[in-house]
Amino acid sequence: MTSSDEASMTSDYARYLAAKTTVDDRALNRHVLAELRRLMPVGAPRVLEVGAGLGTMVARLLDWGVVGAGEYILLDTDRSLLDDSRRWLRDWAAARGLRSDLLPDGLRVGDLRVRMVHAELGDYLETDHGALADVLIANAVLDLVDVPAILPGLLRLLVPGGVYWFTVNYDGESVFAPGHPHDDQVMRAYHRDMDERVRYGRPAGESRTGRHLFHHLRAAKAPALAAGSSDWIVSAGPDGSYPGDEANFVRDILGTIRDALRSRHDWVDPVDLADWLAVRDRQLAAGELVYIAHQLDFAGRSPG
Ligand SMILES: C[S@@+](CC[C@H](N)C(=O)[O-])C[C@H]1O[C@@H](n2cnc3c(N)ncnc32)[C@H](O)[C@@H]1O
Repeated sequence: MTSSDEASMTSDYARYLAAKTTVDDRALNRHVLAELRRLMPVGAPRVLEVGAGLGTMVARLLDWGVVGAGEYILLDTDRSLLDDSRRWLRDWAAARGLRSDLLPDGLRVGDLRVRMVHAELGDYLETDHGALADVLIANAVLDLVDVPAILPGLLRLLVPGGVYWFTVNYDGESVFAPGHPHDDQVMRAYHRDMDERVRYGRPAGESRTGRHLFHHLRAAKAPALAAGSSDWIVSAGPDGSYPGDEANFVRDILGTIRDALRSRHDWVDPVDLADWLAVRDRQLAAGELVYIAHQLDFAGRSPG
């Protein structure tokens, strides 16, 4: 992340998503990505990314030559994040010498028109949007929504036979190494919190989304044509420092676990949680902590 990226971001969550970029760059499954490239329509496709956050995926796909022309819609329920996204993408393009022009609802980067849409996904699926998408993307999002309820409607946003790429779907395993006696207690409680979470008045994800997607996609008549793991793996280099802003990324993950469990005294003993977090913080500061999250990627086509 450059200093101009930092200056352009207003929220802690935007900073977290920027720090996540290099972790996702390594994690995204190359076999599934190759399938996306094979399925990608030629010309100027209409791409819809749901839960797009800061827009780091459209930047990555431009960098990797997967998209270049057409329209790319960033849909998210967080309006301030979408505002950050417009600035972040403009700075990102400038840093690469790419021409960008601000538009009333987004910006143009080279030949690609990027449009921001502020909507909650469940609400969005209940309204009519006119033009369908050729490509549908969701990165680190489907584990935050009720997949069986949402997937059929999501796939109907695609033209028949349109392409989906659903990536970084959490799959029930987080590893913090070296091991700690409270690991099992903390992780069991964290997964239970994911399984019981409600947001925007709807069930909001589950801890084994990755493995369950195989069957959900099949049930929605859109079985995966490619699948593979996209584990996040963060460790310090030989000099004890973490790459990019990844120490802060892991710090945010620990903060997420703390916030999820701080009032769950019946699930995890507060003294044990405090001890676990203190040890993990010290290990992170010393460059000793390794963090691994198991996740899965999928690519395929919508029915028809
Ligand atoms: C973990 S972040 C991932 C962001 C981005 N895809 C990335 O990988 O950097 C999840 C994003 O999904 C958005 N989100 C979560 N639930 C949503 C919903 N029900 N409708 C729309 N957006 C949602 C959040 O606001 C957030 O930006």
